[in-house]
Amino acid sequence: MKTPKELKVKPIRNGTVIDHITANRALNVLKILDLPNGEAAVTIAMNVKSSQMEKKDIVKIEGRELKSKEVDKIALIAPQATINIVRDYEIAEKGKVELTNKVKGILKCPNPNCITNANEPVKTQFYVMEKEPVTLRCYHCERMMVEEDIESQFRL
Ligand code: CTP
Ligand code: ZN
Repeated sequence: MKTPKELKVKPIRNGTVIDHITANRALNVLKILDLPNGEAAVTIAMNVKSSQMEKKDIVKIEGRELKSKEVDKIALIAPQATINIVRDYEIAEKGKVELTNKVKGILKCPNPNCITNANEPVKTQFYVMEKEPVTLRCYHCERMMVEEDIESQFRL
Protein backbone atom coordinates (compact mmCIF):
# COMPACT_ATOMS: atom_id res chain seq x y z
CA MET A 1 0.00 0.00 0.00
CA LYS A 2 1.20 3.49 -0.82
CA THR A 3 2.07 5.61 2.21
CA PRO A 4 0.11 8.84 2.11
CA LYS A 5 2.18 11.99 1.74
CA GLU A 6 2.23 14.28 4.73
CA LEU A 7 -0.35 17.02 4.35
CA LYS A 8 1.29 20.41 4.31
CA VAL A 9 -0.59 23.64 4.82
CA LYS A 10 -0.89 25.42 1.48
CA PRO A 11 1.47 28.36 0.81
CA ILE A 12 -0.08 31.77 0.34
CA ARG A 13 0.58 34.30 -2.43
CA ASN A 14 0.35 37.60 -0.57
CA GLY A 15 -0.29 38.24 3.08
CA THR A 16 0.99 37.30 6.51
CA VAL A 17 1.99 34.02 8.08
CA ILE A 18 2.04 34.09 11.87
CA ASP A 19 4.16 31.09 12.76
CA HIS A 20 5.39 29.53 16.04
CA ILE A 21 2.25 30.55 17.90
CA THR A 22 2.00 28.91 21.34
CA ALA A 23 -0.01 25.69 20.84
CA ASN A 24 -3.78 26.16 21.08
CA ARG A 25 -3.63 29.96 20.89
CA ALA A 26 -4.51 30.37 17.18
CA LEU A 27 -8.07 31.38 18.05
CA ASN A 28 -6.79 34.06 20.43
CA VAL A 29 -4.70 35.41 17.55
CA LEU A 30 -7.83 35.51 15.37
CA LYS A 31 -9.60 37.41 18.11
CA ILE A 32 -6.78 39.98 18.18
CA LEU A 33 -6.85 40.46 14.41
CA ASP A 34 -9.60 42.73 13.37
CA LEU A 35 -10.72 40.75 10.36
CA PRO A 36 -13.61 42.18 8.37
CA ASN A 37 -16.54 39.79 8.46
CA GLY A 38 -16.14 36.95 6.02
CA GLU A 39 -13.65 38.74 3.81
CA ALA A 40 -10.07 37.59 4.32
CA ALA A 41 -9.01 34.04 3.44
CA VAL A 42 -7.63 32.58 6.64
CA THR A 43 -5.87 29.26 7.16
CA ILE A 44 -5.36 27.89 10.65
CA ALA A 45 -3.22 24.98 11.78
CA MET A 46 -3.27 23.92 15.41
CA ASN A 47 -1.01 21.60 17.37
CA VAL A 48 1.34 20.88 14.49
CA LYS A 49 4.83 19.53 15.06
CA SER A 50 7.70 21.98 15.03
CA SER A 51 11.44 21.58 15.30
CA GLN A 52 11.79 24.57 17.63
CA MET A 53 8.76 23.97 19.85
CA GLU A 54 7.07 20.73 20.73
CA LYS A 55 3.81 21.86 19.13
CA LYS A 56 2.72 25.12 17.58
CA ASP A 57 -0.15 26.87 15.85
CA ILE A 58 0.03 28.75 12.54
CA VAL A 59 -2.34 31.42 11.20
CA LYS A 60 -2.15 32.57 7.57
CA ILE A 61 -4.04 35.58 6.32
CA GLU A 62 -4.28 36.19 2.62
CA GLY A 63 -3.98 39.75 1.32
CA ARG A 64 -3.29 41.49 4.59
CA GLU A 65 -0.26 42.75 6.52
CA LEU A 66 -0.48 43.32 10.28
CA LYS A 67 -0.61 46.63 12.11
CA SER A 68 2.02 47.15 14.80
CA LYS A 69 -0.67 47.30 17.47
CA GLU A 70 -1.83 43.83 16.47
CA VAL A 71 1.73 42.50 16.61
CA ASP A 72 2.11 43.95 20.13
CA LYS A 73 -1.01 42.13 21.28
CA ILE A 74 0.11 38.85 19.74
CA ALA A 75 3.37 39.14 21.73
CA LEU A 76 1.31 38.98 24.93
CA ILE A 77 -0.20 35.56 24.22
CA ALA A 78 2.36 34.03 21.84
CA PRO A 79 5.80 35.31 22.84
CA GLN A 80 7.60 33.03 20.37
CA ALA A 81 5.55 33.98 17.33
CA THR A 82 7.24 34.94 14.08
CA ILE A 83 5.59 37.26 11.59
CA ASN A 84 6.33 36.46 7.96
CA ILE A 85 5.22 38.89 5.27
CA VAL A 86 4.68 37.03 2.01
CA ARG A 87 4.74 38.81 -1.33
CA ASP A 88 4.30 36.89 -4.54
CA TYR A 89 4.84 33.56 -2.69
CA GLU A 90 8.21 34.63 -1.28
CA ILE A 91 9.00 35.59 2.31
CA ALA A 92 9.63 39.33 1.95
CA GLU A 93 10.07 40.07 5.67
CA LYS A 94 10.51 37.96 8.76
CA GLY A 95 10.34 39.26 12.29
CA LYS A 96 9.70 38.14 15.85
CA VAL A 97 7.04 39.63 18.07
CA GLU A 98 8.49 41.55 20.98
CA LEU A 99 7.10 42.61 24.30
CA THR A 100 7.84 46.16 25.33
CA ASN A 101 8.48 46.96 29.02
CA LYS A 102 5.05 48.45 29.54
CA VAL A 103 1.64 47.41 28.26
CA LYS A 104 -0.66 50.40 28.03
CA GLY A 105 -4.37 50.47 27.37
CA ILE A 106 -4.68 46.94 25.96
CA LEU A 107 -5.64 44.76 28.92
CA LYS A 108 -8.16 45.07 31.71
CA CYS A 109 -6.93 44.70 35.27
CA PRO A 110 -8.51 41.59 36.88
CA ASN A 111 -8.78 43.35 40.24
CA PRO A 112 -12.36 44.71 40.57
CA ASN A 113 -11.15 47.29 43.10
CA CYS A 114 -8.49 48.67 40.77
CA ILE A 115 -8.93 52.36 39.92
CA THR A 116 -9.00 51.35 36.23
CA ASN A 117 -12.28 49.48 36.89
CA ALA A 118 -13.94 52.41 38.68
CA ASN A 119 -15.27 54.39 35.72
CA GLU A 120 -12.53 56.95 36.19
CA PRO A 121 -10.65 58.25 33.17
CA VAL A 122 -7.57 56.18 34.06
CA LYS A 123 -5.97 53.97 31.43
CA THR A 124 -4.70 50.53 32.32
CA GLN A 125 -0.98 50.07 32.48
CA PHE A 126 1.10 47.01 33.30
CA TYR A 127 4.79 46.46 33.85
CA VAL A 128 6.32 43.40 32.24
CA MET A 129 7.90 41.51 35.13
CA GLU A 130 8.84 38.43 33.12
CA LYS A 131 8.81 37.82 29.39
CA GLU A 132 8.53 34.05 29.35
CA PRO A 133 6.10 33.05 30.60
CA VAL A 134 4.59 36.52 30.36
CA THR A 135 3.97 37.97 33.82
CA LEU A 136 2.60 41.47 34.27
CA ARG A 137 1.98 43.74 37.26
CA CYS A 138 -0.64 46.46 37.33
CA TYR A 139 0.92 49.91 37.69
CA HIS A 140 -2.11 51.10 39.71
CA CYS A 141 -2.88 48.25 42.13
CA GLU A 142 0.07 45.84 41.78
CA ARG A 143 -2.17 42.90 40.86
CA MET A 144 -0.15 40.28 38.98
CA MET A 145 -1.34 38.77 35.71
CA VAL A 146 -0.10 35.50 34.23
CA GLU A 147 -0.46 34.24 30.66
CA GLU A 148 -3.76 32.46 31.33
CA ASP A 149 -5.30 35.72 32.62
CA ILE A 150 -4.14 37.48 29.48
CA GLU A 151 -5.31 34.67 27.19
CA SER A 152 -8.79 34.83 28.71
CA GLN A 153 -9.13 38.44 27.53
CA PHE A 154 -8.68 37.41 23.90
CA ARG A 155 -11.32 34.76 23.35
CA LEU A 156 -13.66 34.51 20.40
N1 CTP B 1 4.75 30.24 3.96
C1 CTP B 1 3.50 30.30 3.35
N2 CTP B 1 3.39 30.75 2.06
C2 CTP B 1 4.49 31.10 1.36
C3 CTP B 1 5.76 31.04 1.96
C4 CTP B 1 5.85 30.59 3.28
O1 CTP B 1 2.49 29.98 3.95
N3 CTP B 1 4.34 31.51 0.10
C5 CTP B 1 4.83 29.81 5.37
C6 CTP B 1 5.60 28.53 5.61
O2 CTP B 1 4.73 27.43 5.50
C7 CTP B 1 6.06 28.72 7.05
C8 CTP B 1 6.24 30.23 7.17
O3 CTP B 1 5.53 30.80 6.11
O4 CTP B 1 5.06 28.30 7.96
C9 CTP B 1 7.67 30.67 7.15
O5 CTP B 1 8.25 30.21 5.95
P1 CTP B 1 9.82 29.93 5.84
O6 CTP B 1 10.58 31.08 6.33
O7 CTP B 1 10.09 29.45 4.45
O8 CTP B 1 9.94 28.66 6.81
P2 CTP B 1 11.04 28.35 7.90
O9 CTP B 1 12.40 28.57 7.36
O10 CTP B 1 10.70 27.01 8.45
O11 CTP B 1 10.72 29.45 9.00
P3 CTP B 1 11.41 29.64 10.41
O12 CTP B 1 12.87 29.75 10.20
O13 CTP B 1 10.80 30.97 10.89
O14 CTP B 1 10.99 28.49 11.26
ZN1 ZN C 1 -5.03 47.11 38.71
